[in-house]
Amino acid sequence: AASKSVVVDGKSYIGDEYTNVTPKILSFIGINNHNRKDHPLNLFKQRLVDFFYDHFRGRTGNPIFSIYDKISPVVTTNENFDSLLVPKDHPSRNKTDSYYLNKTHMLRAHCTAHQSELIKMGLDNFVIFGDVYRRDEIDATHYPVFHQADGVHIFTPNELELIHGSNVNIFDNDKNNSNNEKQEVYSIEANDIVTNHLKKTLVAMIKKVFGEEIEYRWISEYFPFTHPSFELEINYNGQWIEALGCGVIRHEILKNAGAGNRIGWAFGLGLERLAMPFYSIPDIRLFWSKDSGFLNQFQNLPKDGRMKYKPISIYPQCINDISFWLPKEKPFCPNDFYELVGNYGGQLVEQVKLIDQFTHPKTGNVSHCYRIVYRHLEKTLSQAEVNEVHKLIETNATQILGIKLR
Ligand code: PHE
Repeated sequence: AASKSVVVDGKSYIGDEYTNVTPKILSFIGINNHNRKDHPLNLFKQRLVDFFYDHFRGRTGNPIFSIYDKISPVVTTNENFDSLLVPKDHPSRNKTDSYYLNKTHMLRAHCTAHQSELIKMGLDNFVIFGDVYRRDEIDATHYPVFHQADGVHIFTPNELELIHGSNVNIFDNDKNNSNNEKQEVYSIEANDIVTNHLKKTLVAMIKKVFGEEIEYRWISEYFPFTHPSFELEINYNGQWIEALGCGVIRHEILKNAGAGNRIGWAFGLGLERLAMPFYSIPDIRLFWSKDSGFLNQFQNLPKDGRMKYKPISIYPQCINDISFWLPKEKPFCPNDFYELVGNYGGQLVEQVKLIDQFTHPKTGNVSHCYRIVYRHLEKTLSQAEVNEVHKLIETNATQILGIKLR
């Protein structure tokens, strides 16, 4: 693909050794399920928007959060990584994990990519919704394209005082007050107020969506762009699921964006991850379904109506394994294979998993065996149909990845 250019939204990007977007991946750009009327992601998004509009109001009762849901997923590597203090050697920067147009431009891997720019524009309170792109395995809960909501709340000194009831110093230059629960520059007081406000807000949001009785727990996390950082998990049908990541925004980010005299919090969540339990949708691929049996169920729901998706019917899986020797001349990584399977198997592929690997004791050759589970969402697949797709995957893996079938 070197030196060939990639065109997205009528703009051309000169390809280089970083280019790894595929026509298939590019075809998702512009679909914007989160903005489509009656799509479950749009309905779920609207619940979050309603929460932020109701929960935070200005002096005259006006909503103070702005919503952004039409920002292009093409971003610079600076926006996606550097502006958020992601280390130069962080694995997410790897070509095997993210989708690059070229060395300087990529498809956002998270909506946090827009945080700095929006703060630079002078915004203090906003939520961004958008499609994000990550190279990953494929199964019922993973797909290379999904959707996120990312929120930011930055406090003015006055707002902090209002919450606290008395004067608060945001900053603290007394190094003796340093502890692991806060950033050095901020005072213990300000850090506590903002952390508590963050947790209270996000629990209120989750309760508003899932109901007062939802069980939750906080876990310590690490993100390069926040400190302290947390993850909120919710218990859904006896299973703990990760609902969101959040934390106090790194002061350096605010400073670089022209808000160095402030403190604030940020969070990010996956829409599919929460909409799946909310509507009882069993498979992430269904969000891409064009079948009326799926979409019709979400039409004309009352505004606060919560519905349970009724599976149209369960069609059988078809399981085929593929074993091959890895190429010796070039590097091979499982994500390359997962993606190729996605490209040629499309919506028929429910799962791809590495199930066995070994190194030949004499030749040193490495063998991988992958299990591919095929299932059509709307009909029973015949073995002949599956074989045809499987063959296509074998041929292309041989040609493109340089593997040798066993
Ligand atoms: N961007 C993080 C993710 O994709 C989520 C996050 C956003 C965490 C903002 C903290 C603050 O996992």
